[in-house]
Amino acid sequence: MRRARRDTMESIGRIGMPPAGGAGRNPMLSALIAQVFGVLLAGLIVVFLVPQLPRQPLALAAVQGACAVLVSWRLGEPAWRLPIHAVFIPAAVLVNGLELPVWLWPLGFILLLLVFWRTDRSQVPLFLSNRKCRDSVTELLPARPCRVLDLGCGDGALLRHMARARPDCRFVGIEHAPLPWCWAWLSARGRGNLEIRFGNFWNHSLEGYALVHAFLSPAAMPRLAVKVDNEMTAGARLVSNSFPVPDRQPEAVVDVADRRHTRLHVYAPRATQWQ
Ligand SMILES: C[S@@+](CC[C@H](N)C(=O)[O-])C[C@H]1O[C@@H](n2cnc3c(N)ncnc32)[C@H](O)[C@@H]1O
Repeated sequence: MRRARRDTMESIGRIGMPPAGGAGRNPMLSALIAQVFGVLLAGLIVVFLVPQLPRQPLALAAVQGACAVLVSWRLGEPAWRLPIHAVFIPAAVLVNGLELPVWLWPLGFILLLLVFWRTDRSQVPLFLSNRKCRDSVTELLPARPCRVLDLGCGDGALLRHMARARPDCRFVGIEHAPLPWCWAWLSARGRGNLEIRFGNFWNHSLEGYALVHAFLSPAAMPRLAVKVDNEMTAGARLVSNSFPVPDRQPEAVVDVADRRHTRLHVYAPRATQWQ
């Protein structure tokens, strides 16, 4: 079921994402502060309230997690970080109990780095459009042959889907995380109308694309709005999966009939809006 809406504020309310960044602090630093103060608070709880807690490492880790959540919340970190703080040390305690070979820890770190890359800087983690989203974005493609760009294309599945459905169009994806890029690039081989590039999409011009798709995060949207206004061609459209551009009226909002009630926000660059 799909319908168009013109109410950005309502969209922001439904998605319920607070602005990212914890009062402009470096995200890595505020995460570190939350974890370290979580340890200190849990230490105080042990010393003054529950001296027997260290006998149960998992319970102690859970208390540390709860304290880290509290500190993170007080620091104004985005809501999606809270569950990560809650489970970070408990998960480490659980995995440590498995007595895995020591080299697995750095290997796990390197794998995570290759998949998520510098999420601390970009504030855009990897999560993928589902099949229903892919169908809905494909339906938004202009009827004429055109060029389409996916900013941060992840594993490239969205682009492959569209490239199959619309052989008359040309699709470009840009990705900076090495493993997803590698997967997307290998899977695009042999598809003449699909090109996967490695790099930072902020350095790539949006000029000449009829449709630009972005599935990023609230933190990226203000900068993206400026880029769209400066670079997108008249008549082109930005389709933002899930995250609205703040203080900007979308031309349409498409409700996707998936389980997470995804919304696609469609914008025209400022100069061409409402034409
Ligand atoms: C939420 S995922 C969306 C993936 C894909 N577009 C989709 O809809 O399934 C966002 C992707 O953008 C990538 N990304 C974030 N910032 C980037 C940047 N500055 N340049 C290139 N890729 C970036 C991330 O690595 C991640 O793979």
